[in-house]
Amino acid sequence: MKIISAKDYDDMSRKAANIIASQVIMKPDCVLGLATGSTPVGTYARLVEWYERGDLDFSNVTTVNLDEYKGLTKENDQSYFYFMNKHLFSKVNVKPERTFLPDGTEPDSEKACSDYNRIIAEAGGADLQLLGLGHNGHIGFNEPADVFEAKTHCVDLTESTIKANQRFFASIDEVPRQAYTMGVGTIMKAKRILVVVSGEDKAKIVKEAFFGPITPRVPASALQLHGNVTVVADEAALSLVK
Ligand code: F6R
Repeated sequence: MKIISAKDYDDMSRKAANIIASQVIMKPDCVLGLATGSTPVGTYARLVEWYERGDLDFSNVTTVNLDEYKGLTKENDQSYFYFMNKHLFSKVNVKPERTFLPDGTEPDSEKACSDYNRIIAEAGGADLQLLGLGHNGHIGFNEPADVFEAKTHCVDLTESTIKANQRFFASIDEVPRQAYTMGVGTIMKAKRILVVVSGEDKAKIVKEAFFGPITPRVPASALQLHGNVTVVADEAALSLVK
């Protein structure tokens, strides 16, 4: 595991974007595994900037996202598709038909998950998987559990997550109760993994996930077993590790 220290959020974003950019330049038809959340927003902004400058071409890139809420349409502004479209897809020349997320509108969980597993397999798996890190060590929607889930599966959101999400919706009834997520096994099959982490509030979990015991109670700890992981974290996130 390679840990790259960045000065601050902007520096982290630039360094992470440079790694993704080099992947796209070295292999223009690469498969990028992508993440949502606040951490990668700056990374996507840099990629968009470099695309606009003419330095990057996404026309042969395929993307597979980690997760999507079950029950939300692509048009819903809380869906992960909406997020990706807003921050990246609509701003670069990636082909819309080459951008994949689990289908949140598929009510049959088994079908949604097996369809997504097939899409990832047909794409050949991710060349580079971008990840954020949850405060409890989650990656994608793989929450602390007794086992590492291998493939795409449907997750029941915890009461606290549902309550926390309530502020984004008109009423609590509209808050999704479930999500589809890539499994830890699929994430681990990516040829290369890039984790972005920022802020002092992540310092404790950075230490636990990357320097503590490997356990499904801290899903990101599985990454210690992958042969090609780069963590780009700012000084605040690295403040508890030497
Ligand atoms: C996003 C995702 C999540 C986030 C994680 C960190 O697709 O799957 O695992 O990466 O919750 O979120 P932020 O970056 O908002 O701290």
